[in-house]
Amino acid sequence: MTEETPAQYAGPKRVLSGVQSSGALHLGNYLGALVKFTRLQHEMDTFIFVADLHSITAWQEPALLAAQTREIAAAYIAAGLDPKVATIFPQSAVPEHAELAWIFNCVARLGWLDRMTQFKEKSGQHKERSSVGLYTYPVLQAADILLYKATHVPVGEDQKQHLELTRDIAGKFNHDFDAPGFFPLPESLIQGPGARVMSLRDGLAKMSKSDPSDASRINLMDDADTIANKIKRAKTDPLPVPETVEGLEGRPEADNLVGIYAALTGATKAEVIAEFGGKGFGTLKPALAAVAVDKLGPVGGEMRRLMSDPTEIDSVLKAGAEKARAAAAPVLAETRKRVGFWGA
Ligand code: TRP
Repeated sequence: MTEETPAQYAGPKRVLSGVQSSGALHLGNYLGALVKFTRLQHEMDTFIFVADLHSITAWQEPALLAAQTREIAAAYIAAGLDPKVATIFPQSAVPEHAELAWIFNCVARLGWLDRMTQFKEKSGQHKERSSVGLYTYPVLQAADILLYKATHVPVGEDQKQHLELTRDIAGKFNHDFDAPGFFPLPESLIQGPGARVMSLRDGLAKMSKSDPSDASRINLMDDADTIANKIKRAKTDPLPVPETVEGLEGRPEADNLVGIYAALTGATKAEVIAEFGGKGFGTLKPALAAVAVDKLGPVGGEMRRLMSDPTEIDSVLKAGAEKARAAAAPVLAETRKRVGFWGA
């Protein structure tokens, strides 16, 4: 592996991230990803895409895929991403991603991919029946990022290893093709409130769209009654809210509810505890339900409005894809030249 410091890359700071278009988004995606994107768009040039090339690494019903892509785009916009500020686009509308991914498939080493824990988890007992795409998924992710020379990548904890791989690919490319500092070595942005929202049924499991229990998560399109009910039924232990942050240790469900309340209100856990410490969850839960309905209700409403007529979303995605292609083209052209392709 090559040694290169990020300092060697002298280009501008740029944010890039994406969410897969497979299944409904939930509170974890909202706090862990969407809210972060909306903040970052005002700090750096921001590219946010719908990772539909990644979605098809597992079977996706063709008749549903475009609607799922629109739904993610609707969530981006409803959460506050401004298409005039951030570039919002579907990955598959920018074929440069796939082309760069191929080149990176020839840069990345089998040994590097063999270490990827997410592949092991997703392929489970059936490695030999997984798609080849699922295996090279992190290479495509590196291409997503480096195609725009992104320097900052807001992602969940589970993506840290893919970011490390992205840096290894960037470093090896820069080294092998005698192009020091050509690709940046991007950083993951993981911290922040709401970085990890856990299941409402099990404080040790991440809130996930693949959890068979719908009561384990709050979906962005849930209506107010559903949100309130799920919070009311959320698992807790019999003790009251602790009086100190340390008191949350070893109480994953209590910690999760306090954390969600904090993230939704922009407060710290300590502030939440100052307000609710010593009181029962019978007091915290209705307050949390009110806050959740207040914050998420309008997001779901805006998503439903956007989804009811795809014209607006489609025009955002089309304009975003054009902007993305314009940004990607010179990077890919330079990459092709470095590799030595005919005509490049
Ligand atoms: N793998 C990411 C996830 O599951 C989604 C993704 C694909 C992504 N390409 C990306 C995230 C590039 C950040 C940057 O969350």
